[in-house]
Amino acid sequence: MKTFGKVILAGEHAVVYGEMALVAQISLGVKVEVVVGKKETDLLIRKAVELAGGKDKVGVKITSEIPIGSGLGSSAAVAAAIIKQVRNYFRKPIGEDELFEYTMECERIAHGNPSGIDSASVVYGGLITFVKGKPIEKLKIKNKLKLLLVNSGKPGETTREMVELVAQQRGKEKNIREIGKIAREIRDKLAKGEEIGQLINKNGYLLEKLGVVGKKAITLANKLREMGAAVKITGAGGVKTGSGMMMVIHPNLEKIGSVLRDEKIDYWPITIGAT
Ligand code: PMV
Repeated sequence: MKTFGKVILAGEHAVVYGEMALVAQISLGVKVEVVVGKKETDLLIRKAVELAGGKDKVGVKITSEIPIGSGLGSSAAVAAAIIKQVRNYFRKPIGEDELFEYTMECERIAHGNPSGIDSASVVYGGLITFVKGKPIEKLKIKNKLKLLLVNSGKPGETTREMVELVAQQRGKEKNIREIGKIAREIRDKLAKGEEIGQLINKNGYLLEKLGVVGKKAITLANKLREMGAAVKITGAGGVKTGSGMMMVIHPNLEKIGSVLRDEKIDYWPITIGAT
């Protein structure tokens, strides 16, 4: 049983304030196996066993390909995988909407005030538009979107801390609304098979203005932009050290990859499927 991580293509942080965001599931995943006889140590596992009416003592073995705390939805993917697998083990499979609610509950404990975007992506998959409190919409795109996820370094802050940092910022409303507008424009362009590079850069600069991108990531982003790339962080970001993953679009991703390899920066090529 596997669940998958996600990349936010547009709209992180603004989504907390009711704006639209776009999120796509990626192929990096989390595998959970139920281990019988191992006593559960985690509140989440205990809860999942209780909900399934299970009597056996079970624990879980987690194997994850998703870098932790880097904006790729690792915590929601782990929570959903545990709940789903424990319920399957006790032959009480869980439906999507119920899984969304339980994953959200875990995310609330981990992140305080999550918009629900990570939980929605892990449960409903594909490429979706997400607006807090509204039903998700599956997005059909005309052309495959190829990008690189580039590691700008693990953030020194949690998602909760980054969301709070934005909450404290005065005069943020204009930037938040602008990010929402860009997310809607990107949605329309993807549907028509049009180029989104400029809008990705705009979203990237606005996140920098919101104060969620650190110096190291801004320097790297600008270097790649000078090579003609479109760059934004994806996820909550970070300012003390790294800012987590950045998404990079360029007509020649091989060229970007070779620069990153020379600088010993980790990256993952990702394809977002056309439908
Ligand atoms: O957990 P992350 O790093 O993928 O960030 C989630 C996106 C935020 O908009 C920053 C928070 C939220 O709950 O939507």
